[in-house]
Amino acid sequence: MATTYFNGIKTSLALAGKKAKSQSQILLLTDKKQVKNLPKSLTDKVKTMFENKEDGIFTVYGTEISIIAVICKKESNESLQLEAARVLGASIYKTLEKEKVQQANLVGLNAFDKAQNWAFAEGFLLSQYKFDAYKKAQKESKKKAENGLVTLSDTLLSAKELEKLTAVVQAVTLSKNIVNEPYNQLNAVQFSNLAKQIGKEVGFKVEVLEKAKIETLKMGGILAVNRGSEVPPTFNIFTHKPKNAKNKQPIIFVGKGVMFDTGGYSLKTGGVMQTMKCDMAGGAAVLGTLTAAAALELPYYIIGLVPATDNKISSEATVVDDIITMYDGTTVEVQNTDAEGRLILADALSYAKQYKPELVIDLATLTGAAAAITGPYGIAMMGNTPEWQNKVKVAGEKTYERVAELPFWKELGDLVKGEVSDLKNIGGPVAGASTAGKFLEHFTDYNWIHLDIAGPAFIKENKGYKAPGGTGVGVRLLLELLQQEK
Ligand code: BES
Ligand code: ZN
Ligand code: ZN
Repeated sequence: MATTYFNGIKTSLALAGKKAKSQSQILLLTDKKQVKNLPKSLTDKVKTMFENKEDGIFTVYGTEISIIAVICKKESNESLQLEAARVLGASIYKTLEKEKVQQANLVGLNAFDKAQNWAFAEGFLLSQYKFDAYKKAQKESKKKAENGLVTLSDTLLSAKELEKLTAVVQAVTLSKNIVNEPYNQLNAVQFSNLAKQIGKEVGFKVEVLEKAKIETLKMGGILAVNRGSEVPPTFNIFTHKPKNAKNKQPIIFVGKGVMFDTGGYSLKTGGVMQTMKCDMAGGAAVLGTLTAAAALELPYYIIGLVPATDNKISSEATVVDDIITMYDGTTVEVQNTDAEGRLILADALSYAKQYKPELVIDLATLTGAAAAITGPYGIAMMGNTPEWQNKVKVAGEKTYERVAELPFWKELGDLVKGEVSDLKNIGGPVAGASTAGKFLEHFTDYNWIHLDIAGPAFIKENKGYKAPGGTGVGVRLLLELLQQEK
């Protein structure tokens, strides 16, 4: 794949069975019995580690470097166990990078089960991501790193599985890149152009409704948010409809595509505007998911909808107290221009009705209130379909993109009822994440789930296999949900 947006993967896991040229070894010890093969200096230390159930990574310097990982901690459930394997994959990669090992054999993974092997390889590949495209000095070293190769001498993953995993990691990488690109490099129009390019390369349909069409359709939510901008909005429709699709009615993913959120006239002050280039993380996850679905030829009819615009100020911009008419005719009093995500999503959710979808899931960096509840550790979920919500929960545990249900009581809906219009776009001082969800619910008439990813979409510090910046959250979750449907 030619586009630079797939360049996050510099070192690759080669296919099982191939031998690396170099003799560097990565040895994974999962059983006390393997200790006898160790260099003498380590034997006693590692034995004690097994007794105390302590994990660790050692580097042994000889003619070639050996990296030895002791893995004996048992986590209390499968979800934690898989996450530990991902983090281990990341630690091994980082050690290789530190030691500048470019080629190595990986041995000893037989003790892991299939799912753990997958998770290990996933962590290893995901941890290679760095957003350094704008660092001049990085360009040279990047070239060198591209030669890196870790060969598996165990049957870690089959060629087919590795191909599958690569598609998943590439989709996450794409999603991270879209979030990390600053607004002056990626506005709504540029996002649509990128989507068109990717759709062509990977093989799914990309239709972009431009401003004139959005006006004809009277998508008042999108137009109200866009009013202050010199860059027109776009409404992006991605379609993956394979002949062998198992579902007649589409599964629709809707992503918030606010390319930058200044807050509008309810301006973000005191530093909270920082990181708001991440406000299209939902849209990025939807594009990433469609990309992987097409690359993997998943047998599902899937549609992605991404309303895209920035939220900026000019003399034209929407002001507080403005009353707008949404795509479905609902009137909304804009009491806060910073609650813009729900306005653009509402139009997309109304638009989704025409497809008579089997399920709609929206993903959005929607509220600080959700971020305050979940932190970077998980996703806040609401919805009207307990059965699907349970499936999302299961997928969340499996991928460690965990979801927590928030209150979604009927009374919370009363808090967004308008005094002078049908709805108002803020709900008051309590339950901010839930009232945002209730606002969206008004525009749905199908099985629907709302995922507020404001907490985990963008992180400030490196954590395990996650680099600072966009995390690509949602992509692995949605792909896992689709796999469960098999
Ligand atoms: N994009 C923000 C939410 C956000 C906050 C995302 C922190 C990521 C990290 C959203 O548009 C917003 O500003 N929401 C307001 C809503 C409020 C005015 C009702 C918020 O959460 O403060
Ligand atoms: Zn906002
Ligand atoms: Zn926003």
